[in-house]
Amino acid sequence: MPRVSRRGLLAAVGAGAAGTGIAVAVAAEPPAPTATDVVPFEGAHQAGIATDVQAHLHFAAFDVLADDAAGLAGLLRDWTAAARALVSGRPVGEGGAVGGDPLAPPADTGEALGLPAARLTLTVGLGPSLFDDRFGLAARRPAALVDLPAFPGDTLDPARCGGDLAVQACADDPQVAVHAIRTLSRIAAGRAAVRWAQLGYGRAATVDPSAPTPRNLFGFKDGTANVPGADTAALDEHVWVAADDALAPGERWMTGGTYLVARRIAMHIETWDRTSLAEQEQVVGRTKGEGAPLGGSREHEAFDPATLPTASHVRLAHPSRHGGARMLRRGFNYTDGATGLGRLDAGLFFLAYQRDVRRAFVPVQQALAADDALNEYVRHTGSGVWAVPPGVGAGGWWGEQLLA
Ligand code: HEM
Repeated sequence: MPRVSRRGLLAAVGAGAAGTGIAVAVAAEPPAPTATDVVPFEGAHQAGIATDVQAHLHFAAFDVLADDAAGLAGLLRDWTAAARALVSGRPVGEGGAVGGDPLAPPADTGEALGLPAARLTLTVGLGPSLFDDRFGLAARRPAALVDLPAFPGDTLDPARCGGDLAVQACADDPQVAVHAIRTLSRIAAGRAAVRWAQLGYGRAATVDPSAPTPRNLFGFKDGTANVPGADTAALDEHVWVAADDALAPGERWMTGGTYLVARRIAMHIETWDRTSLAEQEQVVGRTKGEGAPLGGSREHEAFDPATLPTASHVRLAHPSRHGGARMLRRGFNYTDGATGLGRLDAGLFFLAYQRDVRRAFVPVQQALAADDALNEYVRHTGSGVWAVPPGVGAGGWWGEQLLA
């Protein structure tokens, strides 16, 4: 029986509908990944940061079970080998999902067979808890990898916080992103276990200034004043750790890396939906339709944040209040069913990359937690910070700068 890929079948059905009206399935090979489907894995920096934001997210934080640095390095090597296959749309392991030893579980779980690479990116971070005696890494912990302070109003659920490792999987197909995290957690069996995870969609921020700005679940454009992913000067200034960052010898492995903060932020969308348009705009500091700064008319026009309402989100988050510090926001909307109290469990999975959290996320969140008018409508329920090592070179592996 000839194999029929989803895409091949759909093409045949489409042709049939246009002609005879009869859907005829024809044999087709799984679609070959196209250049636009595949985001290069290797580079000076990890993919998935400056990459144009994909439509779906599967984020997972892991606790490491391996008890020494060699075990940790082995896991990261195996993950890297799998990631090379995953991001190019290939199944993992000898035999993939349908070949190999019939008496053994298939090397690949199979749910992404026939799907395109879908611009999958996998981005790995190392949490503060990794830099302890288990792995002999205490002296290698970067000074910038601080434990986040408690912020006023935090209602964090410990079951959604921290993690020795984090993996951000982003793809234009949700099943491709889920397959990637499932595969990495399967490979990790006995060496690392998923601590918590989050699915996201729709992207709430963009790093592509030529694309229309996506909207968050409050219905506002989110990502207008982001660090553009194509602006290498801005990335060098605000996102990538540089050799001139006064790094101690033990932390030079972070050169070319960055720091990730994740916050799961529940949004009281029912309360928001009963709030007048004028009030919503006062809270954000921008108009809802165009996304223009209040008092202006165009989304991307220059503005003086001092002219915005005192407690507005944009005024308080604006770089001019924080020594010019900016971060690359790459958040996703989420909807996790219902709260059981007649409300949707929905919000923003905020992800931000920056060169130093002590100069970007921490002071900005301190200002927001103290005064942001948005606080009435949001609640931070999950949190984590990770050092994101630099990219992987030919034949290299994640974290080798630290662990090799
Ligand atoms: C801007 C929404 C949380 C930092 C914005 C904008 C919106 C928004 C609508 C204006 C459009 C834009 O410039 O992108 C939200 C919502 C949040 C949230 C709904 C929570 C559910 C946060 C957090 C931080 C943050 C936790 C960082 C601690 C920023 C920054 C800007 C911004 C830096 C750009 C300000 C500028 O340069 O004009 N946010 N945000 N946001 N937000 Fe948030």
